[in-house]
Order: sequence, then structure tokens, then C-alpha cells
Amino acid sequence: MISVQEAKRLAKKNLSEKRYEHTSNVKKLAVELARRNGVDEDKAALAAYLHDIAKELPKDRLLQILRENDIMSDNALQRAPAVWHGIVAAILAKTEYGIEDEEILSAIRCHTTGKLNMSKLDKIIYMADMASYERNYPEAASLRAHVLENLDRGTIEGLGMSIAWLKAGGKNVDEYSLAAYAQQRQQYYGGAGVSF
Ligand SMILES: [Fe+2]
Ligand SMILES: [Fe+2]
Repeated sequence: MISVQEAKRLAKKNLSEKRYEHTSNVKKLAVELARRNGVDEDKAALAAYLHDIAKELPKDRLLQILRENDIMSDNALQRAPAVWHGIVAAILAKTEYGIEDEEILSAIRCHTTGKLNMSKLDKIIYMADMASYERNYPEAASLRAHVLENLDRGTIEGLGMSIAWLKAGGKNVDEYSLAAYAQQRQQYYGGAGVSF
């Protein structure tokens, strides 16, 4: 498995300056969230540095990697292209960079949508990406503060916001996000299911 330093070097090499800056901010927030929640900080750093490593690959290349790695493709081809880059990043992390740790791979894979049964590390990378320090949508700072205060509650807020934005924009919401949101609300707040 590559080191955190090596993952940082790969991010720098493969990403534009702007996306590297985003990635570096995701790493900062992810490590802070890991520290506060008793999660291995190096795993958080590795997942953060690699989460967008496939984001600048051309669509053809993403498709090719997905087709060649069917078992690891997490139904990507039936889902919106926006989720492909995370899945491909997890494939590359495993096949090119030797990362076998399923927790790290999962966090990279589901960083755009969440999924059922999210681990702490899944939540950390999902939220560090959504609320990273350069994000400037109106709710960004409060979302960041909330997730730093409480990872579970902050993730529910983040998932809910993301679903609401997509719906408001007339976009399709990935099934994984709807499932994650309903499950986590149920687990955290109890009560009946949610109709969104
Ligand atoms: Fe991403
Ligand atoms: Fe990202």
C-alpha cells in the first residue's frame, strides 16, 4: 500500500491546481474529523488524497476502466456519470496503487453519493468533500461546523441538503443517497421511514 506522502504526490501529479487545492482541503477536514471520531488519520488522509484522482480522466477512459473491472464497478453503468469518478478512483487505488484496505476503498467509492451502512470513514470522506474549506455555497460554513461537532448528525444534514438541491435542480437523485439518508435518519432519530 502506498504511503500518505505518495498519495499526496499522485494527487498533485494527476489533478489541476484547483482540484488539488480542493483535495488538499478535503484531506485537512478529513484528518480533523478522523481525529475527533477515533478513526485512523492516515486512512482518512489516504482516502482524501485519492478520492478525486479519476475526476479529470476523459469519459471514454472512465467507461473503459469500469467495463474492464466489472466486479468492482458498483453498478456504475446503470447510474449517473457523476458517480463514476469515485468508483473508478477506488478501482485505481486498488489495482494501480495497491490499496487493499476495504474501508479506504469504500470511502473513495461512495464519496459522491453515500450508501447504505456507511462506516465512520465513509461519512468522513463524504462530508469532508461536501464541506471542504474552499466550498462557498451559503450553508457551507455551518454544515462544516455541524459535522465537526457531530459526525452522524452532520452527515444526515449533508445527505438531506444534497438530495434537496438535486431535486430542486430537476436532477436525478442516486438511489444510494436516498437509501443512506432514510437509513441514517431512522437510526439516529428513530420513528417511521421518511418520504422525501
Ligand atoms: Fe468527487
Ligand atoms: Fe472532491
